Amino acid sequence: MIPRCDRRLLPVGVLVSGRGTNLQALLDSSKAGLIPAEVRVVISNHKGAMALTRAKEAGVPSFVVTSREFGQWPACRRPYEQKIVEILKKFGVELVVLAGYDRLVGEEMLNAFPQRIINIHPSLLPAFPGLHAQRQALEYGVKIAGCSVFFVDESVDGGPIILQAAVPVLDDDDEETLSARILREEHRILCEAVKLFAEGRLEIKGRRVRILP
Ligand code: GRF
Repeated sequence: MIPRCDRRLLPVGVLVSGRGTNLQALLDSSKAGLIPAEVRVVISNHKGAMALTRAKEAGVPSFVVTSREFGQWPACRRPYEQKIVEILKKFGVELVVLAGYDRLVGEEMLNAFPQRIINIHPSLLPAFPGLHAQRQALEYGVKIAGCSVFFVDESVDGGPIILQAAVPVLDDDDEETLSARILREEHRILCEAVKLFAEGRLEIKGRRVRILP
């Protein structure tokens, strides 16, 4: 059990694209006082994202920013990200969490939030980066799958790893059952990583992230 925290709350901005169960885990942990952080703003790049409903229900301001508003990809990337950064800054965000955000992060965001953007990925990185990680794991035939939280850099799912959790692959697993078991661990380690960050306990040295006592 994580002890209840009553200190200053770290302002967090969450970027989403879909269902938003990882966002929900953060909202719930924050509300329960289990992490010294609060979600100040949610930004989705898809209008119909379920995550937006979750934000609304939690009383957290949310915005839709689509790249299309700014023209063709990749030319629109800079103004698109500038808009996102503008909103995050307006809400005083100090940590950006990508929680099922389906766009690669570019220079504008990385420069605005250096070593302050984290992402959750449903594999034990560096195995199976990119899309459909759980399907990749099943197709490869690994016996242990899992998830990783990492600091975002310019690579695809290649930044320094903060936490990982292993999940066994069962003989009768399909993509759905494996994803569901991994997802439970995602929620746990994402909240734990935000807690560690908020407590100032993450130290990045090259590719390695040390967890300070
Ligand atoms: C999760 O599996 C996450 O690891 C991946 O996208 C999925 C998002 O799920 N990046 P949700 O929207 O948080 O439910």
